[in-house]
Amino acid sequence: MKASNALFTPTALGALRLKHRVIMAPLTRSRSVQPDSVPGDLMREYYEQRASDGGLIITEATNISLTSRGWLGAPGLYSDTQVEGWKKVVGAVHAKGGLMVAQLWHSGRSSHTSMTGGATPVSASVDSKYWENPNHLVSIPGGWVQPSPHRALAVDEIAGIVEDYREAAEHAMSVGFDGVELHAANGYLVDQFLQDGSNKRTDEYGGSLENRTRMLSEIVRALISVWGADRVAVRIGPWGTWNGMSDSNPDALFAHVAKDLNEFGLAYLHLIEPRVSGSDDVQTAGGLAAERLRPLFKGKMIAAGGFEPDTAERVVSDGILDAVAFGRHFVSNPDLPKRVAEHLELTPYDRSTFYTFDEVGYTDYPVYAAVAAAV
Ligand SMILES: Cc1cc2nc3c(=O)[nH]c(=O)nc-3n(C[C@H](O)[C@H](O)[C@H](O)COP(=O)(O)O)c2cc1C
Repeated sequence: MKASNALFTPTALGALRLKHRVIMAPLTRSRSVQPDSVPGDLMREYYEQRASDGGLIITEATNISLTSRGWLGAPGLYSDTQVEGWKKVVGAVHAKGGLMVAQLWHSGRSSHTSMTGGATPVSASVDSKYWENPNHLVSIPGGWVQPSPHRALAVDEIAGIVEDYREAAEHAMSVGFDGVELHAANGYLVDQFLQDGSNKRTDEYGGSLENRTRMLSEIVRALISVWGADRVAVRIGPWGTWNGMSDSNPDALFAHVAKDLNEFGLAYLHLIEPRVSGSDDVQTAGGLAAERLRPLFKGKMIAAGGFEPDTAERVVSDGILDAVAFGRHFVSNPDLPKRVAEHLELTPYDRSTFYTFDEVGYTDYPVYAAVAAAV
């Protein structure tokens, strides 16, 4: 690996010691074994293919409870069989010298009663426009449908959600993960509390910036109580509008969130650049979110969203980011760190198999040596 490439110098994200900075971003791929959302051999093979010595993999979003589910095929971390399934995945990644953190997920209103065991999906506030919008779809047994109507969480229910996160963090520890990342982006539960387009509450979880970040802080504290701050991370989607999100003053909100997280001493803060919305590229005004938040957050910062090998190297060598997470390129390039290091051609990804349920478009992308041999 070329020493001159800033992506291939070691760094520490809290207690996570990386030998290179090409991180695998969290990618929902819907291949856990149903009906119990257990990681099986196919998932083990997929992650093993993408593991590299000293490289960090962030798992696909992983549900903290049955009622937090919202996407058919997403794995969980709330049952013993899920823990046993994950042990095989993490064991395979560790055997290749890789690190792996679990991304913890509550879908909130982005769900359907067929995924939650019949429970009505929950959110910060009720917004019927969300479930009535035909563009908002969730994957359930039988296909894609509009979400079920949701209800607002009562104040005294929030401690139970925080407790679910804490228990999932304990499960992640018994699996042998290297840490946990809180999914606070992309219009799921924590994001629904952060942004005032979806949070109309008038209690201590709504209104002021402090109130809207309260749930985030409470969950982070719960995760830290299990793992210690240097193995806990948070992912946010600043200025993100995907999945029905909006905020009346996103500049103020995300500056507040970045500054507020300083008190914890997290392993890292993970951003999604708003130029990627869901799995689509979109035009945005202004510079990188990372550039805007870098002066405000004092710890290590990583980001994903539209990076190519050369632009990733530049943001790291310019000191804007400590590492870059790649999403879609990791789908189709199981040996992405090697390809980036050696400037090898990247295999294009096929969107049509992002969320299907078998090995096609999942474990059948070749490593570069096989691509080259086939030419
Ligand atoms: C198929 C697919 C699944 C994704 N699943 C997740 C997820 O589970 N959790 C998450 O935080 N982001 C998820 N994302 C967003 C990616 O982590 C990443 O931020 C996005 O793809 C932009 O990075 P890229 O331009 O390198 O692909 C997903 C994106 C794609 C394309």
